[in-house]
Amino acid sequence: MNRLLAGIVLLAILGCFCACNNMPGRPKPGPEVPRPEEIMDFSTLYSQNCAGCHGADGQLGPATPLANPEYQALIDDATLAEIISNGQKGTRMPPFAKKGGGNLSDAQIMALVKGIRSRWSKGDVLQGLNPPPYSTEHSGDVAHGKEVYNTQCASCHGKAEGPAGPKGSILNGPFLALVSDQTIRTTAIVGRPDLGMPDWRSRIPGSPMTAQDITDVVAWISSQRNADPEQHKAAQQKSTPQTAISQKTVEVHSDKSTGK
Ligand code: HEC
Ligand code: HEC
Repeated sequence: MNRLLAGIVLLAILGCFCACNNMPGRPKPGPEVPRPEEIMDFSTLYSQNCAGCHGADGQLGPATPLANPEYQALIDDATLAEIISNGQKGTRMPPFAKKGGGNLSDAQIMALVKGIRSRWSKGDVLQGLNPPPYSTEHSGDVAHGKEVYNTQCASCHGKAEGPAGPKGSILNGPFLALVSDQTIRTTAIVGRPDLGMPDWRSRIPGSPMTAQDITDVVAWISSQRNADPEQHKAAQQKSTPQTAISQKTVEVHSDKSTGK
């Protein structure tokens, strides 16, 4: 036997030995790593594309927690797929569909929607509770929205034109510059249970916010984006302690992750 042949025989024996050791009776799986477009496993897709912003377990990230059964009941499949595909313009939520400049196929986006549902939805937990709808065509009443804000939000976020509340201001420019009205609306309805913010019906016991309240408060908060910058600056300087909520959220997030 020449050395080349001996080598091949040795490799064949070793190969069989390893394969048989790993998986008795089954052929050895191919060693090649799947190409990115072949990945269909939800955990892999989620951790590679979403976890950095929405949190490793769908919560405690800087962006909207997806692991919130009330949120899952509020949003429908088509809207979920639409946002993942196209992103939210003007925010840090990027488009993932190839046609929008992202890297995921439509099949992968559907795998994400299915996985998000099966992992984090608990069925229709909002049934019978008459929640405000996910979105609305109506524009809100800004003046009424300010009253709603002072009643429903000020205890934690600070009075309109007042200093920041104990949970940080949501009226500061840097925060409002980064979020869409939809995020304010989503948060006003389902809260941030991961960070201790109650939902629309639980902030004032026995006095849930109506759909109109939600639309109006979002309209008023949104109008603060366009507030006179000088006046806004003065209000920011007056208010102590002034904590930007986006910074706080990141701190909460990193506290948790370093605490693990
Ligand atoms: C770079 C950060 C970032 C990444 C990565 C990211 N998101 Fe987002 N996502 C955001 C932000 C910020 C928002 C809120 C945008 C806004 O203000 O409308 C958001 C919003 C959303 C919403 C809508 C929330 C609502 O109010 O209804 C969904 C659904 C969502 N993201 C899913 C995903 C999924 C699924 C992935 C992974 C495929 C992902 N996101 C990746 C930052 C991110
Ligand atoms: C009982 C306290 C409480 C009340 C009342 C409250 N919030 Fe919050 N809210 C929180 C907490 C806690 C957070 C998370 C703060 C942080 O990032 O550390 C938060 C965060 C937010 C955020 C940022 C969410 C994000 O994903 O970055 C928005 C927007 C918000 N609240 C809107 C509102 C609105 C609108 C109201 C009134 C309709 C309201 N909140 C009432 C406690 C409250």
